[in-house]
Amino acid sequence: MQLTRIPGLLFGGDYNPEQWPEEVWAQDAKLMAEAGVNIATVAVFSWSRLEPRPGAYDFGWLDRVLDLLHEHGIAADLATATATPPPWLIREHPHVRPVDANGTLLDFGSRQGYCPSSPVFRAATARLARVMAQRYGQHPALAMWHISNEYADHTLECFCDESARHFRTWLADRYASIDGLDAAWGTSCWGQHYTAFDQVNPPRKAPGPINPTQLLDWRRFCSDALLECFEVERAILREVTPDVPVTTNFMSILPGLDYWKWAAAEDLVSDDAYPDPADPTSHVGAALSYDLMRSLKDRPWLLLEQAPSAVSWRAVNVPKPAGMMRLHSLQALAHGADGVMFFQWRQAVYGPEKFHSALLPHAGVRSRGWQDTLRLGKDLEKLAEIAGTRTAADVALVLDWDSWWGLAAPESMPSARLDLKDLLAAWYAPLHARGIAVDLVSPDHDLTGRRLVIAPNLYLCTAEQAARLAAFDGHLIVGPFSGVVDTADHVHPGGAPGPLRELLGVSVDEFRPIPDGATETVRHADASTSTVRRWTEWLAVDDASVLARYRGGDLDGQAAITRRGRVTYLGCLLDDVSPVLSDVLTRAGVHPVADVPPGVEACRRDGADAHYLFLLNHGTTAASVTLREPGRDLLTGRDLRDRVEIGPRDAVVLRIAQEGEK
Ligand code: GLA
Repeated sequence: MQLTRIPGLLFGGDYNPEQWPEEVWAQDAKLMAEAGVNIATVAVFSWSRLEPRPGAYDFGWLDRVLDLLHEHGIAADLATATATPPPWLIREHPHVRPVDANGTLLDFGSRQGYCPSSPVFRAATARLARVMAQRYGQHPALAMWHISNEYADHTLECFCDESARHFRTWLADRYASIDGLDAAWGTSCWGQHYTAFDQVNPPRKAPGPINPTQLLDWRRFCSDALLECFEVERAILREVTPDVPVTTNFMSILPGLDYWKWAAAEDLVSDDAYPDPADPTSHVGAALSYDLMRSLKDRPWLLLEQAPSAVSWRAVNVPKPAGMMRLHSLQALAHGADGVMFFQWRQAVYGPEKFHSALLPHAGVRSRGWQDTLRLGKDLEKLAEIAGTRTAADVALVLDWDSWWGLAAPESMPSARLDLKDLLAAWYAPLHARGIAVDLVSPDHDLTGRRLVIAPNLYLCTAEQAARLAAFDGHLIVGPFSGVVDTADHVHPGGAPGPLRELLGVSVDEFRPIPDGATETVRHADASTSTVRRWTEWLAVDDASVLARYRGGDLDGQAAITRRGRVTYLGCLLDDVSPVLSDVLTRAGVHPVADVPPGVEACRRDGADAHYLFLLNHGTTAASVTLREPGRDLLTGRDLRDRVEIGPRDAVVLRIAQEGEK
């Protein structure tokens, strides 16, 4: 299935013509066509230009932009333009603006300055979305709708009175009665017993630690409140233009929004990714995000934004070294993207992003950046046939936003050093280094068919989720501090691992986080040792074999890692999970898509009559890879067999025909 009606891979970027005099537009369109750009994201921040006064619209300029793009064969990812409410709306309704946890009403002068719960804001976005859909729904350039922009980037939460009212409604829906809320929030603690919903507030700045269930419900509410904003606009677009796909751009793997829930409301998943060029391992984190994006709907997705070179929002904005822009673009495709787009097309000359790189830099067509743009356009044409092809993964990593949010109450946790993204990355990085395909799953997903499922952490685990894991017939690894609380953040009877106790065959007697800088040692059955930082547990082994024990310290001789049948439990955070991972991968019969040396990433996509092997050398020296099967490198047209040399920051994309195919 194609992402949009555009055949092949998508290539383009954010285009902000309103920042330029009209004479520049013709040159933009000509250069876009020359580079092979086939889609531009338009009107993301254009509300104040499209509706300069309430209900008075100025669409002439956008009409001309869309016509011009269409004349040059370029489609539009057309934004509903609702990402920044215009000054007149703020002037008329000052409380459209968000309020922070300290009660400060934030001022205009940036972007995304809205309260997600504001009925005035929502109604104004609905009006604009309808007018946009009616005006451009039949425009031949329209390929997809882009609602708002990066929800939760600057405004994840608002603590105003309107948000408080909305939060109470959300809570009343969830708990039906104030007694239900009191029970769930455990308000008998610290004298917080409520007798009416109107006594309940968002978790504003308070004298001490805030009720953790209040915080958890607030995180759920904030994700839902923004999703409602999205749905207000989506419903209108679906009504007026039912055949045009709708997206909003996600921000890779971040705690703010429950992307499982969000993705279900979208037609296609799109993502913005900004791996730091100064970090030689940033491509690993990007790969994890990309695998999440593919997994959200289990189908191809779109890299909607990345930087051609430097960004403008880090303390030091390092440009991408030669070859990295191309390599990172190919990486997104390797992980299932059907297009690569950028922020932005033409480099700005004013505003906060004037030093942010662009496909067409300040230095114009003489720049090295422009040569990179041209080259990438040609490469994407050569790879057109991979559009729509899929990825199969035997291994799945469990990611649950409830657990992520539950862990993020640092004032009431045994340790503030547990972040779910770090815990996922600790397993993902060695899988990635081995060339093993990985999907992400929610603990509520069907796990059938996986060989190995890894739950790095399930702090919050329900009886249903535990039953699903127990029914899974593949290999399972569960990380520490799992099965601790229920959906209300109440500790399960008997303590951890709660509903996982029988499955794991262990009980946690005591959590033993490690102070910063200290370590513990774990000794495996083969006498090798691993270092542990951050976390250990005193385990009571009920019905499991012990794979590793602590050596030295208070836990000397105690079980650290256990196994019951196909289920391995780690009561500690190993510095390097490789000893456990290698063993379980072998038992589970999981194989890499290729045997790759360090620094080379291997991914596979499957088509109807061929599969595609991406070999990406992220290193700064050449690498040699042994090929299991011969194939044709789509990037160079070379036929390759046995072995291939890949230059630094270079890649091959092998087309390997199915038996009997050419
Ligand atoms: C985000 C935004 C863009 C732009 C880029 C800059 O992704 O969506 O509008 O600000 O960051 O990196």
